[in-house]
Amino acid sequence: MASVVVVGTQWGDEGKGKVVDLLTNYADCIVRFQGGNNAGHTLVVDGEKYIFHIIPSGILYQEKTCMIGNGVIIDPGVLLQEMDELREKGLPVTPERLMISENAHLIMPYHKMLDHAREASLAKGKKIGTTGRGIGPCYMDKVGRVGIKAGDFLDWGQLVDKLQANIEEKNFYLTKQYNSEPASFDEIKNQFEQYADALSPFIGNVSVALDTARKAGKNVLFEGAQGTQLDIDHGTYPFVTSSNTIAGNACIGSGFGPAHIDEVIGILKAYTTRVGEGPFPTELPEGDPIGDELQRKGGEFGATTGRRRRCGWLDMVVASDAVRLNGLTGLAITKLDVLSGQKKLNIARKYMVDDEEFTCMPGNIRKTIKARPVYEEVAGWNEDISAVRSYEDLPQEARDYVSRIEDIAGVAPIIVSVGPDREETLLLRNPFERS
Ligand code: GDP
Ligand code: IMO
Ligand code: MG
Repeated sequence: MASVVVVGTQWGDEGKGKVVDLLTNYADCIVRFQGGNNAGHTLVVDGEKYIFHIIPSGILYQEKTCMIGNGVIIDPGVLLQEMDELREKGLPVTPERLMISENAHLIMPYHKMLDHAREASLAKGKKIGTTGRGIGPCYMDKVGRVGIKAGDFLDWGQLVDKLQANIEEKNFYLTKQYNSEPASFDEIKNQFEQYADALSPFIGNVSVALDTARKAGKNVLFEGAQGTQLDIDHGTYPFVTSSNTIAGNACIGSGFGPAHIDEVIGILKAYTTRVGEGPFPTELPEGDPIGDELQRKGGEFGATTGRRRRCGWLDMVVASDAVRLNGLTGLAITKLDVLSGQKKLNIARKYMVDDEEFTCMPGNIRKTIKARPVYEEVAGWNEDISAVRSYEDLPQEARDYVSRIEDIAGVAPIIVSVGPDREETLLLRNPFERS
């Protein structure tokens, strides 16, 4: 029996969906614990591509239980659409296969309206480049103690009371502050009545269900969303998302005790990407031939918004932050295949901000924006490695690259991924097999 947390180590889109899908093979329960449908997790099985925004990526395995923890925020329309798409593919999502925490908060239409209105009102350089999914405003209501929870679907009178109070306040901001259209109480009430009917059977106490599973000796896999540098406390604030993305939140966001976590696996893309605004010290900006090649070969377009992802060299300052903040016990290095064909590779070891040296992300965003990476150059390789299935068969330079990452991070890789498909993976150690 083991409990394993998977988190992104960079700015999201590291390949969490693929790795979670792969590890689901050994798990019984798969749990999302933070974020919402700002996430886009892609998995490819036998050439077929699936993108999940809210349902845990483990859902493709029929006999496993998926859970959406209290730390997640749920757009009920998006969740139902995702369920419909799975049903159409012959994978109906039943309450036996998916549990939604009664304490998960709901993303309301006015959250999305406020997200758009706020972004539109910000000057260039101040915009966050959010996904527009209502994430910030929903988490604001949660900590402001006025949010509507999934459990309120089971208490319609309470939901309507909260909606009434929220509509008054939100419409004040929408119309007076942002000069936008107001949200309609009646429309939302009617729409949410249908959502309540459809989703009520799925709602339960995820913390109790997880405890029961653990005591029964089940393997639990926690699926992080976003990445360490998007963490609300530890990321490149304010260019972050509105939840804690690091491993500690796996416990808070699901109601699982910290002492029961056995492994924390950090997903590290072999280079770096970022979607949205904010500092990115190792960026190779659009127009740079290597950056453009990584973007093209890596298919670096957002799985949620379709935006072009910014690309750059591997940043071990970012990776080392992730090792420390998450307490990583293993790394999954993804998209190594995308680096094939580069004669030389750069690895950032530290930053210079004027004359000041940093080996971790500066706490002050103005310094982070000015940070200049100091690189170590290593040899690249030419061979296409996507057909390689054993670590020893990788070109020497590719193995050296992986070893260098291990040396600097002080954490060993457990997975090396050489393509998007489930099969295109080298599993070096199974975190669920514990001695
Ligand atoms: P996530 O948000 O962390 O789950 O990552 P995304 O799904 O947003 O983006 C990762 C993209 O890279 C997806 O299109 C995956 O199919 C793809 N991918 C994952 N691992 C690999 C890999 O090792 N090689 C290549 N070429 N693509 C990969
Ligand atoms: P996955 O789970 C990459 C980014 C947005 C924006 C910032 C704030 O697929 O890795 P938000 O809508 O959350 O308020 O936007 O965070 N962002 C992501 N970037 N991958 C994600 O998720 C992201 N989720 C949010 O682009 O810069
Ligand atoms: Mg993604």
